[in-house]
Amino acid sequence: MIKHDGYVTDTAYPAHFHRELQPLWLATQALAQGAAPPDLSGPYAYCELGCGVGVNLLVNAATQPHAQFVGVDVNARHLAVARRAAQQLGLTNLRFIHADFSSFARSNSLFFDLIVSHGVWSWISAAQQRDVLALVGRFLKPAGLFYLHYQCHPGATRMLPAQKLLNELAHHLTGSATQNVQAGLALLDRLDGAGIFHDQPDVGARLQALQRQDAAYLAHDLLNDHWSPQHSADLHRQVSRAGLTYLASADPFENLESLSVPGAIQPVLAGIRIPSVRELVKDLARHQHQRRDLFQKQPVALSAEAHLAALGALRLARLPQAPGSGAVEFRTPIGAINGPSELFSPLLERLAQGPARVDALSQLPIYSGKPALLMQSLQMLMWQGYAHPLRQDAHDSAATAQALQRWLDRQDLRIDVVNACATAVHRPLSFSHD
Ligand SMILES: C[S@@+](CC[C@H](N)C(=O)[O-])C[C@H]1O[C@@H](n2cnc3c(N)ncnc32)[C@H](O)[C@@H]1O
Repeated sequence: MIKHDGYVTDTAYPAHFHRELQPLWLATQALAQGAAPPDLSGPYAYCELGCGVGVNLLVNAATQPHAQFVGVDVNARHLAVARRAAQQLGLTNLRFIHADFSSFARSNSLFFDLIVSHGVWSWISAAQQRDVLALVGRFLKPAGLFYLHYQCHPGATRMLPAQKLLNELAHHLTGSATQNVQAGLALLDRLDGAGIFHDQPDVGARLQALQRQDAAYLAHDLLNDHWSPQHSADLHRQVSRAGLTYLASADPFENLESLSVPGAIQPVLAGIRIPSVRELVKDLARHQHQRRDLFQKQPVALSAEAHLAALGALRLARLPQAPGSGAVEFRTPIGAINGPSELFSPLLERLAQGPARVDALSQLPIYSGKPALLMQSLQMLMWQGYAHPLRQDAHDSAATAQALQRWLDRQDLRIDVVNACATAVHRPLSFSHD
């Protein structure tokens, strides 16, 4: 097993796509909070730290030809896949830099409108984290957005002893990271069978779920020396020292407290004014294990009128998996929520006819004079993967988007590019009824 500064490098991480990393998604979430987002209609620059095999960047670069994209990763095998794909697709607005974050922070001279990092922060050393924040503090432009995904307490806390055991064992084995994680999980399985988790049944259940996952994914997730969930309050304090302000979650459901916080907790939460304490209470209430946090450098708050006008000008499109009408069942982390037909059917029916501006949707009778209710319903449709903002630029990227789709299909990644929205969607799993 080979590591760089405590992080596994002898195993390739599987390709993943995360919609929350896409510029349009992040800009829309910033706007929903009343912050002026970076302008994506003209040239802009974007950097992904720890980009893996680069699927997010390929989607971005193929659908946003007027912007420049940079991916940084320490694993040369990941970048070989990413570079080959970019070359095959003829993408000239995407480049990959083989470096760790500390050396990239020293050598970089590019300024970015967006910097994102997913599945990286909680797995790297404190020195690498410090240099990520130094980089963000120095090279993010004013009003630039920083997206950071990380593991948090209290949901991830329960896995600390199991991760420690897996990683400690792996240090004493001679195999590859995938072999070592499988050996460790087999040991944990035997211990589980012998009743070691009898007083923590949720840990046993989580380990059983892990047994079914891809070994390469598990090696990256679990065999790192610096694996450490954090309290959101501590993380926010660290990021604020780099000169950034916490805006909201990039997961819109988490920003809709009336839906995502259990009802009995809401009156208590309503009485708490200190932002960091509110975030900790929400983490506790949701037993949150990971966060997708959105920060902005020198945010400019929009006036109420400017905010309403900017939201009204947003154009939304229906995504392929959306129903044409009816009620919606939202499958949320705190259980199913029924979205009533009277609220959702008018939106679904209107979007089934074609893209619509938010201010046109606000004319629907059920939403007349209720902009907050409309935004909540639209955020839920976006969260469910039924609607998405349309691109703000007019550049033609049909050919590169189609070429990317062919590449994704050849890799059997089950991801569909949505060029009009500069994003992609996961294909639903088809179930066999044999
Ligand atoms: C779990 S993968 C996440 C990949 C991608 N962001 C995603 O979400 O699919 C973590 C990535 O961070 C990279 N990485 C880990 N430590 C790094 C460091 N110190 N400098 C640069 N890249 C690093 C790994 O090589 C790996 O590609």
